[in-house]
Amino acid sequence: MTTQGKARILTGDTPTSRLHIGHWVGSLENRVQLQENYDCYFLLANMHAFTTRAEKAAEIRRDTIEIVKDWLAAGIDPNRSTLVLQTEVPAIAELSWFFAMLLPFNRVMRNPTLKTEIELKDLGDKYSFGFPLYAVGQCADILAFRAELVPVGEDQVAHIEMCREVARKFAWNYCGVSPDAEDADYEKLGSIFPIPKALVGRVGRLVGVDGKNKMSKSLGNAIFLSDTPKEIKKKLGQLYTGRQTMDEPGDTDNALFQYVRAFIKDEARIKELEDRYRRGDNIGDGHIKVEVAEAIEGLLGPMRERRAQFEGPSGDDMVVNILSEHAKRANVVAEETLYLAKEKMHMQLARRRLSFE
Ligand code: TRP
Repeated sequence: MTTQGKARILTGDTPTSRLHIGHWVGSLENRVQLQENYDCYFLLANMHAFTTRAEKAAEIRRDTIEIVKDWLAAGIDPNRSTLVLQTEVPAIAELSWFFAMLLPFNRVMRNPTLKTEIELKDLGDKYSFGFPLYAVGQCADILAFRAELVPVGEDQVAHIEMCREVARKFAWNYCGVSPDAEDADYEKLGSIFPIPKALVGRVGRLVGVDGKNKMSKSLGNAIFLSDTPKEIKKKLGQLYTGRQTMDEPGDTDNALFQYVRAFIKDEARIKELEDRYRRGDNIGDGHIKVEVAEAIEGLLGPMRERRAQFEGPSGDDMVVNILSEHAKRANVVAEETLYLAKEKMHMQLARRRLSFE
């Protein structure tokens, strides 16, 4: 709990792509809503971006700025929440070192999210030493803010599980909390960290417009938050369901109906569409696509408008200013955590004081 009595949230994105509607239903929507009742920290994992793209420094900078613009457009409010630029928070890097000692090497390498990433990005055995280290760093991102809740997409749950293990191990090694303790009791029993929980959005895995794979920029099957109405229509138009005619019974488990349920707001209309589609009651895929496109535009239209204020170089300056201001706030919390951790680790030999300007 913070001084205002609000529990903390930390979550973030690696700046590798513009955000798409899969990010929205997976996590971003939750983040925007949770700003009401939580002390929220949203992290730009720019350090992590270097683990697979070390030679693309300028691109990573660009992507970092673009993601902040996507966040602001989506409704992340910089007056209520804190944006954390990972590379400006030294305590995260320091905690990563300590946490790396609490996890067996083979445990990290068995992390299923890392394994999937190695396959999907075709990293083979050529990935950098730093690549698996990012998963340990992610534990530090979360614990540096002593976050209780981590809103993420389904693919991140394995990382949060590892973070929970680290928090328990730290509490056992340095705070005398038994591994048998209930997660909810850790702080009461003397742990400096709560055991964080993952919170997966209402659609953990949104299928892309190829109708098969998870939506992702690299697969070319994404509808981006910044897409125009024309682009949205065109991309949905490409979605292939295999259904031929308006009176052929259709499968409401297909990709098109995942979109219907994810983006059309009117429950009664969803039921009606599902019912008529299953029966093949004179309803074409094209018609449903138009309705889905309108629903998505209803979501993205206001975002596009908000994003317009941040276009161009002056928009970049605004983003840079927000990041600098917020780095100060972030460092206050993270430095305090690091100090508490070092105290528990018997390192109170000297106390440093960094100043953040
Ligand atoms: N690995 C996450 C992703 O690529 C981004 C991330 C970094 C993150 N640190 C985090 C998410 C801490 C939640 C909490 O999407």
